[in-house]
Amino acid sequence: MRRARLFIILLLSFSATAQSPSPARVNGQRIHDHLKELSRFGANPQGGVSRVAYSEADLQGRQYAIGLMKAAGLDVHIDFAGNIVGTRAGSDASLKPLLLGSHIDSVPMGGNYDGDVGSLSAIEVAQILKEKQIALRHPLEVIIFQNEEGGTVGSQALGEGLDEKHLNLVSNSGKTIREGTRIVGGDPDRLASARRQPGSIAGYFELHIEQGGTLEREKIDIGVVEGIVGILHSDVTIEGFANHAGTTPMDQRHDALLSAARFLEKVNQIVTGVPGRQVGTVGWIKVEPGAYNVIPGKVVLGLELRDLDEKKFVGLFEQIRAEAEQLGKLNQTRFNFTEPVISHPALTDKGFQKLIDSTAHSLGFSTKVMPSGAGHDAQEIARIGPVGMIFIPSIGGISHSPKEFSRPQDIENGANVLLQTVLAFDKGH
Ligand code: GLV
Ligand code: MN
Ligand code: MN
Repeated sequence: MRRARLFIILLLSFSATAQSPSPARVNGQRIHDHLKELSRFGANPQGGVSRVAYSEADLQGRQYAIGLMKAAGLDVHIDFAGNIVGTRAGSDASLKPLLLGSHIDSVPMGGNYDGDVGSLSAIEVAQILKEKQIALRHPLEVIIFQNEEGGTVGSQALGEGLDEKHLNLVSNSGKTIREGTRIVGGDPDRLASARRQPGSIAGYFELHIEQGGTLEREKIDIGVVEGIVGILHSDVTIEGFANHAGTTPMDQRHDALLSAARFLEKVNQIVTGVPGRQVGTVGWIKVEPGAYNVIPGKVVLGLELRDLDEKKFVGLFEQIRAEAEQLGKLNQTRFNFTEPVISHPALTDKGFQKLIDSTAHSLGFSTKVMPSGAGHDAQEIARIGPVGMIFIPSIGGISHSPKEFSRPQDIENGANVLLQTVLAFDKGH
């Protein structure tokens, strides 16, 4: 009888240790304080930040992050692509590195959480490892990728690589990616050396705010990302003829803005005309010459399409392009599309999904497996190794806005899931 009881006690204590997470926890207050500090760089009056890549604010934010990384015991360098890379040796030199990261650049008039939560939490993980003197078997790399908002630039440089087309793109700061890469300390002439070979990493984990409203609405603590949408961008130029707005009869105009208006409607019809979750947006527009009394002679606008299925959004793009040609004929304007720039969709690793899910449950959190409608550096890193993503709730589902907000407790929860996932991964792989 006593032996049987002893056996049961042993069994219970074994199963408890097998499932319970390490006692190490992140310092939620510290992450909160760091988020607040970071939000000073590029702060806008609306309460968010405009810290577009390659701006003065971006450079200041990067310096701040470098300081935190060094304090967390990381050896910091800027790679040829301009990413900030903090490394920490592992105890088993034969193992490939485990990567953590995100970005700290923002969209114009952005918020204080997109990218920042994941970046500062990855640094916090390193800080805790240092404070608790936890040696990982794997080498660790914390990476703050440059210019995520301008098309996952830094992470793409590691994965697929950047070509001339990418380098010549003008970013939100007004600088080309080539110029910007130099400004942040990279070397556009040596980008090939920044690339990582497929199979050269053990894995990559990224914590991020959801940027949609599902987790908050369903009162779920942690999202386990199953896949990340692909994104297509193309600049569309519409050439008309600028002429006097008072003397040119209505039937003799080549009004580029009128064609643009018809185009916007057509994009919406085409994107909503097939079943699925695909989305299409025209997010910016420039009109020339831009005066009350001149018929617009030229319009340039930005077209974006997204879906988990690349074939689908490329097909929609072709359809939009064909329809635009017809539209142009209506008032003799000419449409011209730049060659599309694509961030490829990516699935996360099934094993990583399970690991994040079980880790979150072991910490007492509810979870939901879900897709990401936003783009992330993880989708580029997926080309070189397995990736996993952890989402936390975004209040009101608002993002890319100064009103973006995630609760401190949710941020702490997500960072603890990241920390415990790293520890569990390191033990098991
Ligand atoms: C990145 O934030 C994107 O989804 O545009
Ligand atoms: Mn974003
Ligand atoms: Mn982001």
